[in-house]
Amino acid sequence: MKKIIIYGSCYGTTKEYAIELSKKTNIEAMPYQSIKNIDDYDQIIYMGGLYAGGVLGMNKTLNKINSISNKKIIIVTVGLADPIDKQNQNNIRNNIKVQLKKEIFENAKIFHLRGGIDYSKLKFTHKTMMKLLYNAIKKLPKEKQSTEDKAMIETYNQKINFADFSKLDSIINEIE
Ligand SMILES: Cc1cc2nc3c(=O)[nH]c(=O)nc-3n(C[C@H](O)[C@H](O)[C@H](O)COP(=O)(O)O)c2cc1C
Repeated sequence: MKKIIIYGSCYGTTKEYAIELSKKTNIEAMPYQSIKNIDDYDQIIYMGGLYAGGVLGMNKTLNKINSISNKKIIIVTVGLADPIDKQNQNNIRNNIKVQLKKEIFENAKIFHLRGGIDYSKLKFTHKTMMKLLYNAIKKLPKEKQSTEDKAMIETYNQKINFADFSKLDSIINEIE
């Protein structure tokens, strides 16, 4: 069975998780930009940073799968908001659902990990997006703010890292 860990990472948090998972499982990890033929693999672990609800590189990569039969797909999201929160999990899952072909979504096992952010390292476009978002959610009454909104307010303009490699264990158990 041919296995691969594919990652979509802009600032490195997801890449660190992918490399750690690769060390622990002996499965090769590579960025989604380097994947030539996704159909070569039977088991695909896709790990992607969350960007405005989207999983970086995921739809570009997984929607290229021609035949899903006999393939195992594991999707791992890495975001700032706490994935323990059910509302956050539902939002992420619903976003994944609209980004993927139906048969791929229905076959995928989905996991969530927590990443980090360093505002001093953000690209200009990302800094601008975060500023606009921050200003918009600050205006919402507290009871209307989602967990993602609260995480954004609490971490705004800071350097913070919630990454926890021990959370990879449940993913390792899922890998055959
Ligand atoms: C422009 C931008 C949008 C983001 N959108 C989300 C989001 O929708 N949900 C979330 O939980 N985290 C969001 N984040 C936080 C990232 O997912 C987090 O920093 C993650 O660790 C990034 O992974 P990477 O370092 O591998 O790129 C966002 C960060 C930026 C800069």
